[in-house]
Amino acid sequence: GLRRREASVLVVGLDNSGKTSLLNFLLPTDEQSSDVVPTVGFNVEHFSRQGVSFTAFDMSGQSRYRTMWANYYHSTNGIIFVVDSSDRTRILVAREELQQLLSHRDIYSRNIPILVFANKMDLRDALSDVGVSSALGLDGIINKSWHICSSNALKGDGIADGIDWLSTAIK
Ligand code: GTP
Ligand code: MG
Repeated sequence: GLRRREASVLVVGLDNSGKTSLLNFLLPTDEQSSDVVPTVGFNVEHFSRQGVSFTAFDMSGQSRYRTMWANYYHSTNGIIFVVDSSDRTRILVAREELQQLLSHRDIYSRNIPILVFANKMDLRDALSDVGVSSALGLDGIINKSWHICSSNALKGDGIADGIDWLSTAIK
């Protein structure tokens, strides 16, 4: 019916992958910022999409802040993992961080959806969604639904598609 759903999502991924830029695109126009700066700690943002009212925890991806991610695993309804598809060296670090997240006790046994954005698709060196998926080892994910979308957080391409999948996947 017209029941309005609420969902809390955790937005993680390495620094410079484009998490804040991507969320900025989902905000109401008057709340969007014209210059995105590296996140310190985390920020909380709100947006609505397809009748779902989202609270998003935009975490810093810098290595010294990454240990904070796990503090929010137990209370999240979904994970958004953002990857810089053009950063072929650090995609291995991204894989490590994702695999650690997946094996964490607050995530492992819970059926929460994982949405991956293969971001920066506009850059010449960018891997395709299939390339990012295999680099991250997404095929090895068991007992969770996951989805990958190529995106360009500067123009907004691919973002709505991903969030629409998440809206449906979150129960
Ligand atoms: P931390 O907060 O440090 O974890 O980084 P972040 O993941 O939030 O990245 P942020 O959104 O701050 O973006 C990092 C840089 O990448 C900025 O200069 C953005 O303008 C740029 N950027 C983000 N998304 C894209 C994209 O899709 N394409 C291109 N070309 N640049 C992007
Ligand atoms: Mg950020």
